[in-house]
Amino acid sequence: MIVNRDEFFREVTLKVCSSLDIGVAVKRAFDYLREHFPLDEVYLDILDSRLGAIRRILHLAGDGATSEEIIPLPELVWDWAGSLTGPVIIDARTASGLAKAIATLVKMEGYSDLALPLRVENELIGMLILRANGERRYNKGHAELLSVVADPFALALANTLSYQEVLRYRDILLDDNRFLNRELFSQAGDEIIGGNTGLRNVMEMVRQVAPLNNTVLLMGETGTGKEVIANTIHFASPRKDGPFIKVNCGAIPESLMDSELFGHEKGAFTGAVSEKRGRFERANGGTIFLDEIGELPPQAQVRLLRVLQQREIERVGGDRIIPINVRVIAATHRNLESMISENRFREDLWFRLNVFPIIIPPLRQRKDDVPALIRHFVGQKSSELGIAVPPAIAPGALERLKNYGWPGNVRELENLVERELIRYRGGQLRFDSLLPSEVESETAHATEIIDNGPLNLDEAMSLHISKVLTMTKGKVHGPGGAAELLGINPNTLRGRMSKLGIRHGRLHTI
Ligand SMILES: Nc1ncnc2c1ncn2[C@@H]1O[C@H](COP(=O)(O)OP(=O)(O)OP(=O)(O)O)[C@@H](O)[C@H]1O
Ligand SMILES: [Mg+2]
Repeated sequence: MIVNRDEFFREVTLKVCSSLDIGVAVKRAFDYLREHFPLDEVYLDILDSRLGAIRRILHLAGDGATSEEIIPLPELVWDWAGSLTGPVIIDARTASGLAKAIATLVKMEGYSDLALPLRVENELIGMLILRANGERRYNKGHAELLSVVADPFALALANTLSYQEVLRYRDILLDDNRFLNRELFSQAGDEIIGGNTGLRNVMEMVRQVAPLNNTVLLMGETGTGKEVIANTIHFASPRKDGPFIKVNCGAIPESLMDSELFGHEKGAFTGAVSEKRGRFERANGGTIFLDEIGELPPQAQVRLLRVLQQREIERVGGDRIIPINVRVIAATHRNLESMISENRFREDLWFRLNVFPIIIPPLRQRKDDVPALIRHFVGQKSSELGIAVPPAIAPGALERLKNYGWPGNVRELENLVERELIRYRGGQLRFDSLLPSEVESETAHATEIIDNGPLNLDEAMSLHISKVLTMTKGKVHGPGGAAELLGINPNTLRGRMSKLGIRHGRLHTI
């Protein structure tokens, strides 16, 4: 058969590079190669020098494909493979020592094999083996034609290997997140500021609940320390050496929520090129922290309820039931009960979550913790910013700060201290950026709160966001933008603004 080599190269290249899943790509090429070669099976082998073995990552036979196997490699074969420069016909009748060595690895009698070494930048990374039923089926012409497509096969294999490596690292990183979390946590100071004063009740509850396995629901305004408390519970629990996996339910797009939480099988949907463990699976043996649980879309609420009831999950696109041993801590700044009455949150899920609620009071209800928090953050942020000696605080400043309303709670306080230190040019910290008029108005506001009953969380947040937006002339992201001042992600801020009905866009000065 006369083959146009350019055409052959082009067709094979397009097929081999058509998918990140090497199994899919080679299968596509297989059908085309069959038109040009005697062909019944294809093997794709990686020479894994770490294992000192062949990793057979693909074996296609007709319609069926088998998954990975490891084949230990005698040194003789290893050296032989390393010396190959082009395709070789492996003939069962060649009674060389080499053939015998190979024959112990693969059944050769009654078959013909054509092996193509795959090299990238001259380094041998693997081998593509075409196999046909019957002996002496391959000739020199076949070998020559196959050599034309050595590079595309080698590159596709190299890409697959790098991609698998990336996925492997991703999983390792996600799992090791818990170590980072712990690092961060111990840097932030293991002690909870105010644990013996304003947060005494909270800490009492933490101590009661930490050793147990039950679900905990943390409620409190933004910035009150829900995540800090979730961390504390995990690291004070018998699961402390297991993973602590955080999920921000408000930050994951609805369409990806199920696969993020529960994982998916390979091919479950377009783009699912490999199987993926969900966060529940990764949290096995540890704790899952479902932050912003009020943002969970309805469909995911149903699935979560099932997990909480049955303690097992099913990956998207799979039919396997996977049992899980996970402790759930959920948190929200929302009023879930009012969300239930508006049919935005499932009541049955609420009953499951609300087994042990812990309410973290806003900072304005624990003013006495303000000085300790300020001192704590002055110390911590100074060392982060490389200020050798933490500056002293001007007399009177703490009193003024105590009387401020702190709608952004501890996070706002933390950001204020950081800003103050960045602007610090010697002397004492006066916290002038919190202007006396603001303090006064906030104090007045605080009185108003007492008189008229407290603002609800959304009202307080809305008020504060609007105020900061006025300060930034409507700028949301970037340096000096509202997101930076509030210490939250610009997208999160935009999301909250639209939920709270706060207008987007810069304010135009007329
Ligand atoms: N009691 C505390 N002692 C020391 N640091 C605290 C305390 N409470 C909060 N913080 C710090 O304040 C910041 C905000 O806390 P955290 O992220 O836990 O709040 P949150 O309630 O989860 O807020 P949001 O609802 O906005 O997610 C963090 O940097 C945290 O380290
Ligand atoms: Mg939080």
